[in-house]
Amino acid sequence: MTQIPRAGVIGHPIDHSLSPRLHGHWLQRYGLTGSYDAIDVPESGIEAILKNLPAKGYVGVNVTLPHKVAVLKFADHISDRATLIGAANTLTFKDDGRILADNTDGYGFMANLRQGAPDWDAKSGPAAIFGAGGASRAIIVALADAGVPEILLSNRTRPKAEALRDEFGTRIRVVDWVQADTMLDDATTVINTTSLGMKGAQPFKVPLDNLNPAAVVTDIVYTPLDTAFLESARTIGCTVVDGLGMLLHQGVPGFERWFGVRPAVDDDTRKAVLG
Ligand code: ATR
Repeated sequence: MTQIPRAGVIGHPIDHSLSPRLHGHWLQRYGLTGSYDAIDVPESGIEAILKNLPAKGYVGVNVTLPHKVAVLKFADHISDRATLIGAANTLTFKDDGRILADNTDGYGFMANLRQGAPDWDAKSGPAAIFGAGGASRAIIVALADAGVPEILLSNRTRPKAEALRDEFGTRIRVVDWVQADTMLDDATTVINTTSLGMKGAQPFKVPLDNLNPAAVVTDIVYTPLDTAFLESARTIGCTVVDGLGMLLHQGVPGFERWFGVRPAVDDDTRKAVLG
């Protein structure tokens, strides 16, 4: 008898994760037998859980904070994207016991941008990125891969932006956080990868007056969906793409690998996840 495939998301804390709703929606939509649940795993428990899950019928898991870097230690194969980013968000458990690690955050970012702004052209001009944390790494790799000619990068803690430039190369130019607004003069793609503007966090305060109305502007924050950052950009006339789609699209490759159907990301998906 074939087992019913199980998948889930590991993180700590995990209550806030929208992934169970997303994958639950897809399972139902495609009439698939399977399950997807949230699994709270403290930092000390990763090795044990990765050993136990396959025996319980799990075919893979998504990985969220704070485990995205630590899980690489336990993987038998790491994709090029995950190696480059230095973190994984999607693990697949093979029948032979091997664990494959991948990172689909950059894919999710790009798929969301292309869906929300179909006319977006990577080569149209420089991209300006606020923030140099984990999400920024994945986005830098994705943008460079898409052919963006130059990346302007600004972070409150400048050495973190410089470290990314040293790692990812000369197409990145670091700008001081106090002058971050100067990145906007030429940028045709503008991305907030900081937590600023998120419910409960501090507001995003960099002045956006210099934004080019032809720019495509996106935020990885999706609580609220319409951040003040995106509202300002919309007022200026920019095309704006909210951050929820990045989360939805990053789930696509894992779901397809685990359950055998490539799922759609559309309005029904958004509604299901937003509840
Ligand atoms: P993620 O993996 O989601 O990118 P992270 O690695 O913790 O999370 O990165 C959070 C980003 O938000 C960082 O760029 C951080 O800036 P620092 O590197 O200086 O910490 C940025 N950030 C968080 N709070 C901020 C604040 N009050 N002002 C400016 N930037 C802030």
